Amino acid sequence: MKITDALLAEHTVFHSLFEVVEKQLDQAPSIERIRQLAEILLHLLEKHGQAEHDLLVPPIEPFLHEIGHLENFHKEDDIIIETLQKISECEDAELAKQILTKTLRLANDHFDKEERFVFPLAEKHISEKSLNELGDAWAKGKEL
Ligand SMILES: [Fe+2]
Ligand SMILES: [Fe+2]
Repeated sequence: MKITDALLAEHTVFHSLFEVVEKQLDQAPSIERIRQLAEILLHLLEKHGQAEHDLLVPPIEPFLHEIGHLENFHKEDDIIIETLQKISECEDAELAKQILTKTLRLANDHFDKEERFVFPLAEKHISEKSLNELGDAWAKGKEL
């Protein structure tokens, strides 16, 4: 499987997960529950971002730089993680809910940019063979 297809499939799973989280947030959850949700998202989004940064970015770094997306690409993933981490220190359920809602929006926007600009760029500049090799490395959960 190509790395771009693997990452896109993860985005699809994240969209479903975000829907579940949004539904939970509508039911006035406790601060403990919000923290648990944030912790699950943090763990999964960290792994996803790591795979992108370790496997997808290196071969397309110069092209990302050219279209002005390199810095944003790194920064946005970091902001999403840092925002989620803030929830663990938050004592107020309403504030935690706002932060988590904001994070879901940031993550959705970020995924959208990746799908519109970054993944097509990778498909354009990385050979099919290399995309598949990177996909194999993703499946094994390690760097090439
Ligand atoms: Fe990302
Ligand atoms: Fe992504």
